[in-house]
Amino acid sequence: MSTTERRADALVFFGATGDLAYKKVFPALQFLVQHERLDVPIVGVAKSGWTLENLKERARDSLEHHGGVDDAAFASLVERLRYVDGDYNDPETFVKLREALGSSRRPVHYLAIPPSLFGPVAQHLSESGCAHDARVVVEKPFGRDLKSARELNRILHQTFNESRIFRIDHYLGKEPVLNILSFRFANRFVEPIWNRDCVEDVQITMAEEFDVQGRGSFYEEAGAIRDVVQNHMLQVVSMLAMEPPGAGAPDGIRDEKVKVLRALRTLSQEDVVRGQYEGYRNEKGVAPDSNVETFAAVRLFIDSWRWAGVPFLIRAGKSLKKTVTEVMVRFHTPPQRSFAGNTLDCSNNYLRIRFNPEEVIAMGAVVRSEGDRDDLRPVELIAHREPVDEVPPYARLLQAAMDGDPSLYSREDTIEAQWRIVEPAIEDPPPIHFYRPGTWGPSQADRLLPDCHGWHDPR
Ligand code: BG6
Repeated sequence: MSTTERRADALVFFGATGDLAYKKVFPALQFLVQHERLDVPIVGVAKSGWTLENLKERARDSLEHHGGVDDAAFASLVERLRYVDGDYNDPETFVKLREALGSSRRPVHYLAIPPSLFGPVAQHLSESGCAHDARVVVEKPFGRDLKSARELNRILHQTFNESRIFRIDHYLGKEPVLNILSFRFANRFVEPIWNRDCVEDVQITMAEEFDVQGRGSFYEEAGAIRDVVQNHMLQVVSMLAMEPPGAGAPDGIRDEKVKVLRALRTLSQEDVVRGQYEGYRNEKGVAPDSNVETFAAVRLFIDSWRWAGVPFLIRAGKSLKKTVTEVMVRFHTPPQRSFAGNTLDCSNNYLRIRFNPEEVIAMGAVVRSEGDRDDLRPVELIAHREPVDEVPPYARLLQAAMDGDPSLYSREDTIEAQWRIVEPAIEDPPPIHFYRPGTWGPSQADRLLPDCHGWHDPR
């Protein structure tokens, strides 16, 4: 199949009047139009009693709040925009959609809607002729556990074969996350130190200063483990830990990532600490006695030759001290204390990879302190520093789906492996510990780290 034949000739997005469309999809669409990467009809679908004019106003409002309006690109975007209003359970909605698609024959259907609607929508797409030669992009969370994820796969597979299903994890569209693989595999010096012989532990902190921001009822269903650990954080772990993909292997990166996920031990109670920020129970949509976690710290082990015995620690939560996502790979201390006056207790050799709010790759090293004493001081060698994503992750991902490139999307086996890892922690969760907003979470998380290092609190 040629690239032109693979390229989709329309983009349909369900949930057009919803929150995700407002915050992420319209900015991504404007970016794609602006950079001449999207020149096909764009059809919004929702059940809101709206008109196309309402949707255009919503698009403008979205852009005014998220990234700004580019007048030329916006004009071109709204010129391509169409709107179908209707119930997702009503076959008539899909007849109207087929009409709106006109002569388009290879649409991408992006389902930014609750997973409970995937089944009916897929079936109606099929019956109305909208699924033929089409691809479907589905939002996270993909299921609530392993069983429901398998059921969703079964439902989608009735209409779309696996090569036509694109499961989004927007972390895979982020430049700094993609850069993990470039940094690891395009630099000869990294590989010899990237294993249990040199690495002491790996920590990932995904901290958000803000609270659930009106998404209380969503959070009650999800919690931090389902919301970000099962997907974003495990994707990052698999990119940090995977073996290099064989040159020319068609789906090499995704194959290697899933091998890591399969080698990860399932979480046991001792490896999980759950927290809830004080005040969460007063949020709209939250039960007054809610037992849902807004913070999770987990300790993972990978049963592989490379990583045996190296803890991978994840800490993620809302209402924490600041908004920052950072990976810290710490190396063992040198075998001997060669400098008598050395007052540094632990190794200061590390690799720090920051995704947010800016991209940084830095190596921690130690040099002599100025003066007479044989003392040392820590320094950082900054390898790379960039402002945040130039290309919005959703733009990169939607473009890949339009091009028929699934490499930035999660495969069925990946999602199932991710659920297997977290399942014990969501089926039989350990107790909740409360923490004050503006802190790094409950102190109980410290028990996951036995040594002198403690958690690395990003600056
Ligand atoms: C989403 C979660 O998937 O990722 C949110 O549902 C979270 O709760 C968000 O805030 C974080 O994404 P980013 O790109 O801001 O790090």
